[in-house]
Amino acid sequence: MKSKTSRLDRFISQNSDYSISDTRRLIAQKRIFIDGIPAESIQQRVTEFTHVMLDDECLNDNEPVYIILNKPKGVVSATKDHQHSTVIDIIRHPQKNDLHIAGRLDLNTTGLLLLTNDGAWSRKISLPETKLLKTYEVTLANPLSQEYVDAFKQGIYFKYENVTTQPAHLEILSAHTAKLSLIEGKYHQIKRMFGYFRNEVLALHRASVGSLTLDGLGLGESRLLRTFEVAQSGGVMPFKQPARHHQYY
Ligand code: URA
Repeated sequence: MKSKTSRLDRFISQNSDYSISDTRRLIAQKRIFIDGIPAESIQQRVTEFTHVMLDDECLNDNEPVYIILNKPKGVVSATKDHQHSTVIDIIRHPQKNDLHIAGRLDLNTTGLLLLTNDGAWSRKISLPETKLLKTYEVTLANPLSQEYVDAFKQGIYFKYENVTTQPAHLEILSAHTAKLSLIEGKYHQIKRMFGYFRNEVLALHRASVGSLTLDGLGLGESRLLRTFEVAQSGGVMPFKQPARHHQYY
């Protein structure tokens, strides 16, 4: 989940036979290209996803990968598990083993799950400070009432962490179903919020994360985020469109 950046001269010295002090000359000779544009300064920043060419040699062509999955029940939000299939097992991508999860779902929760190799993006998506709204469809064992709406708006006290949840919006859809929108993602948060009322969550489905929605993806299906979705959610636009990956989706 690292997201290292380094100065161009340091990057060149670490990834070629040239030294830090050679870099100025290489730049003047227009032998270094950063994302397809001739480098201009030794101080330019190179991230893990910056495309760097020195003469005919590509020194870095890591591409950011952003995948959206409609997670089915019984699949674990982990990269390895001895008992259950994992979300990595059910996606198709040549770099799937380099990906991590941005915001886990419980084993029996279904819905929108994001996978990426971009640590900065997944941190941003998951942090409550980003105030990214996540919406869930919830089915409860017992009937709902206005009391829930008011309590969730006020925040529910979690004794274990000694914190009160941030205001969440509950829209009651029927006696036993509701839509819940919240910006946090604490461990078993929704089950514990309804647990305050001793009301068991029978089914939980994440429908959206910010402006990302499943948009027709069936349970178990996944796809790469579209270019506009990557841009809107603050991801890195790849220098080359990852056309060679589209064959997998
Ligand atoms: N809250 C939960 O309790 N479970 C989830 O999977 C997601 C949010």
